[in-house]
Amino acid sequence: MNVATNLAYPTAIEAVDLIKDYGRGENTVHALRGVNVRFERGRFTAIMGPSGSGKSTLMHTLAGLDSATGGHIMFNGGDITAMNDNQLTLLRRKKIGFIFQSFNLLPMFTAEQNILMPLTLAGDKPDRAWFRQLVHTLGLEQRLGHRPNELSGGQQQRVAIARALISKPSLVFADEPTGNLDSVSSAEVLEFLKRSVKELNQTIIMVTHDAVAASYADRAIVFADGRIVADEANPTAEVMNELLMAERERAARGALLEPPIAPEPAGARHRR
Ligand SMILES: Nc1ncnc2c1ncn2[C@@H]1O[C@H](COP(=O)(O)OP(=O)(O)OP(=O)(O)O)[C@@H](O)[C@H]1O
Ligand SMILES: [Mg+2]
Repeated sequence: MNVATNLAYPTAIEAVDLIKDYGRGENTVHALRGVNVRFERGRFTAIMGPSGSGKSTLMHTLAGLDSATGGHIMFNGGDITAMNDNQLTLLRRKKIGFIFQSFNLLPMFTAEQNILMPLTLAGDKPDRAWFRQLVHTLGLEQRLGHRPNELSGGQQQRVAIARALISKPSLVFADEPTGNLDSVSSAEVLEFLKRSVKELNQTIIMVTHDAVAASYADRAIVFADGRIVADEANPTAEVMNELLMAERERAARGALLEPPIAPEPAGARHRR
């Protein structure tokens, strides 16, 4: 580990030998295969990699939303993997913001109620000025009274972003936060995230499939098959596209070396 960067930026969250398996026996999916990674406080990190490589699993496990199969997660002076449900709930409510890939908005509540939900649950008063700033930056002024099913995908995504940031959490996980936005809204959201890292000293960990989005980050990690395969300081869109192409070629070469797949028995086609 690099001692110089260690001193410059204290650790926000760290995964040590992190393992996550889904299922059992021969159907086990090894989603995380012993991940070691340290995220620095006040820095913006992007995570890229093929679909199914374990990016969302890493984020959910780090945030304590999903349990780890093995390893440790050091955050805020403790090990998340050793915490009980109550401790995890409190930690997530106060310290962690999560922007879900699938938004996870509550359908019965308006956009405004959804945005304020983390504070409502914690019994905390909203900072109205911050609320107005979020709503303005995300262009949601005209949509605050609407329920999620009356909003477009991009609008729902922006509500989910505001909800994750309303309590000014020190650590924010963003799972493809710009996946449903047009390029102008996407640039605005990325600028906003970048600014909140600088101004609020927030730590942001963002999954993205877009190399341009990754270029807003201070660092970008490439994930493949449950492992980190590249770790780039000062990522540019060009470098990230090259790394992703190289990973795709490596995976294709690997597939060529595997034995041919046996024909499926009749009736097995729809089983996963
Ligand atoms: N609840 C689950 N039960 C079983 N397998 C799961 C579960 N969640 C994820 N997986 C599997 O774990 C692996 C990693 O999934 P994950 O959602 O982390 O991928 P991802 O990198 O986020 O992909 P994408 O870019 O498509 O969002 C995949 O093979 C997926 O099928
Ligand atoms: Mg995902």
